[in-house]
Amino acid sequence: MGTAIATGARRWLEPYPVYGSFIDETIGIVARQTRDTVSFAVGSPAQEALRLVGAEELAQAVIARDGARALGYGITEGDPELRDLIAADARARGVNATADQVIVTAGALQAIDLACRLFIRPGDVAVVESPGFTNALSALRNHGARVLEVPADDDGLDVAAAARLLSESAVRAKLFFVVPNFQNPTGATLSATRREMLVALAHDQRAVIVEDDPYRLLRYRGSDLPSLASLAGDVMVIQTGSFSKTFLPGIRVGWAIADPELVRAMAAAKQTMDSSTSSLGQRLVVEFIRRGRFAAHVDALRVLYAEKQARARAALARDFAGTGVGWNDPEGGFYLWVTLPRSASARQLLGAALEEGVAFVPGDAFAIERDNSAALRFSYSSPTPERIDEGVRRLRRAFDRVVT
Ligand SMILES: Cc1ncc(COP(=O)(O)O)c(C=O)c1O
Repeated sequence: MGTAIATGARRWLEPYPVYGSFIDETIGIVARQTRDTVSFAVGSPAQEALRLVGAEELAQAVIARDGARALGYGITEGDPELRDLIAADARARGVNATADQVIVTAGALQAIDLACRLFIRPGDVAVVESPGFTNALSALRNHGARVLEVPADDDGLDVAAAARLLSESAVRAKLFFVVPNFQNPTGATLSATRREMLVALAHDQRAVIVEDDPYRLLRYRGSDLPSLASLAGDVMVIQTGSFSKTFLPGIRVGWAIADPELVRAMAAAKQTMDSSTSSLGQRLVVEFIRRGRFAAHVDALRVLYAEKQARARAALARDFAGTGVGWNDPEGGFYLWVTLPRSASARQLLGAALEEGVAFVPGDAFAIERDNSAALRFSYSSPTPERIDEGVRRLRRAFDRVVT
């Protein structure tokens, strides 16, 4: 008879608090719903997009040809071919990178955590945009950072406010975390002027910038702006990216681009986490790119998501006219930021919404102290256009029940 780990055992020690992400919790919340639910909660690619990849045939070809290479342990820094491809892509967009400046990671999320491992120890100040990407806020907090939340608006992080807050609090920033393009959760893009200001501020502070850029290719209007890495000069930038939004999130393949010494240090840290990123996942990406399919796939995704964004905005305009509800108009990405009348609570709305069969992520999930309780993140990436219409109708019914 074995001994079970007793859940009621005496607790000698209390674990340290660990922060997670309500975004990820919503995946489970939606899965547990017994009624049909339209999810505007997850920032996940559409089923149609996943089908376009043709992963089954791709996986068969990779396993048949690469065998052990596709299924064994890999090199910590990543598959050499994939590192080459990522570096070549970076060079094509003005970031002077070689393959030894690339580490392939288990999604951009792991790259962010690795950056924290290198630069954050308890009490170090990290500046983040607010509202901002929950998982990164939590990663910083789990490493002990003192997180300074700086307001973000339609032009992204308010860099002048960041400088002011740092000076008022008489602290030096160690790390700036920003999502420059179509950020999560608002969809806002950091303006060209603010990009330059941010690099200058990081220079003054002698801080590292983590430029997390998984949505860059999903631009539906307007033109690309220079990346922080391309503007950096002697400022240290770790640029993180991902194949989650443009290929397959389940294979967990992302990357970081940084100085070779930082890449070596990140590789050492990764060796205590997962040793290497999924070999099969990396070979799938390489195969897809080598077949010359990636660019056309991303073109198709742009059309697909631009249509969904327009559909979501039209549905909101139709069903929420005159209610005091507002929403923005991002040039790309997966998200709209929806603001409720000031007295409303998005958490309370979520309760009613789930009963009506629709889900979203309440705004307070994207901040630590700042109040976003009357806002929500509306992700249009996953449902079909028809389901977007239906979801917004359900959201209006929920709104009428809780907001007077
Ligand atoms: C801004 C941002 N960074 C990183 C990630 C995580 O991406 P990955 O799946 O590559 O870990 C996401 C996913 O939602 C995101 O929105």
